[in-house]
Amino acid sequence: MKTRITTATMLGEYPLVRPRRLRKNELIRDLVAETEINVRKLIMPIFVKENIDRPEEIESMPGQFRWPLNDDLLRFVEDCYEKGLRNFIIFGIPSRKDPIGSEAFSRDGIVQRCVRALRETFGEKILIITDLCLCQYTDHGHCGIVKIGRRGPYVDNDDTLKIYAKIAVAQAEAGADIVAPSGMMDGQVRAIREALDREGYSDVLIMSYSVKYASSFYGPFREAAYSSPRFGDRRTYQMDPRNTYEALKEVELDLREGADIVMVKPALAYLDVIRLVKTYYPQVPLAAYNVSGEYSMVKAAARMGWIDEKMVTIEILTAIFRAGADMVITYHAREAAELLH
Ligand code: PBG
Repeated sequence: MKTRITTATMLGEYPLVRPRRLRKNELIRDLVAETEINVRKLIMPIFVKENIDRPEEIESMPGQFRWPLNDDLLRFVEDCYEKGLRNFIIFGIPSRKDPIGSEAFSRDGIVQRCVRALRETFGEKILIITDLCLCQYTDHGHCGIVKIGRRGPYVDNDDTLKIYAKIAVAQAEAGADIVAPSGMMDGQVRAIREALDREGYSDVLIMSYSVKYASSFYGPFREAAYSSPRFGDRRTYQMDPRNTYEALKEVELDLREGADIVMVKPALAYLDVIRLVKTYYPQVPLAAYNVSGEYSMVKAAARMGWIDEKMVTIEILTAIFRAGADMVITYHAREAAELLH
């Protein structure tokens, strides 16, 4: 029997349609491709560590380093720039921690000094985003202020907001273009927006980690930044991985509070959430964070010779954009930029 190749639609049958024609060769495939990775939409994370003078490779994240605040870092950023990258998100690793994370908002905190140095060297040629959180800065490792209540220690929401507001102002004062609160406190976007506006930084954007799950994929990051909580976990503030629609509530609240860009994090295990948020808020710029554990799994499998690292990297980034992200924070950014060149 002769096979009829058809596409059934509501309008009837089209026996002459052959989808494979559109896959005939690379030029045609490129012409009709729906998704494209643009290096200008990649954001490179940078760890900057106080009081070291040589880059330290992060064991669980091959190819990623804790950078000293010196020429090594500036040369690295220059190299990323030459490969086409323009966007950087800075994570600080301070040498001093205390209960309220003072180094996060000190004028001489490591992030503030790093932003000044980058601004001095690169001017407006690069976009500087600062992660805004407390976990690397507090001795207990939580993302907020810890208090002792009737039932033991807890992270106090509203006292934490006051500190976040100070961090935002310190980062803006140093020259950040975008502050990115990642602590998942209620009302953090409003507190930060009000403080920035009050201090004359109404042009500084807020990229909110609106939909941040309590994920085990952050393991390598916490090792890199020494930011694991000393007791308990982050499940009283980060989202439960079992929830989808709660993401819409978090996004809506952040938008009402003045977020300019919202984020879903992690990315790979949460592509459904990226798609959901993009569908409900197509007008809002959406970032996705391809987190440390997702990166490390690729590196580990590649080292074992079990996957083709380059192909897998591009496929992963494509998938995150295809799901609906407008921009992606990824440790693969530099390598991807190289591959796309
Ligand atoms: C700080 C923060 C974390 C990450 C980004 N900002 C860690 C956490 O919440 O424990 C994780 C990023 C990654 O895993 O790549 N709150």
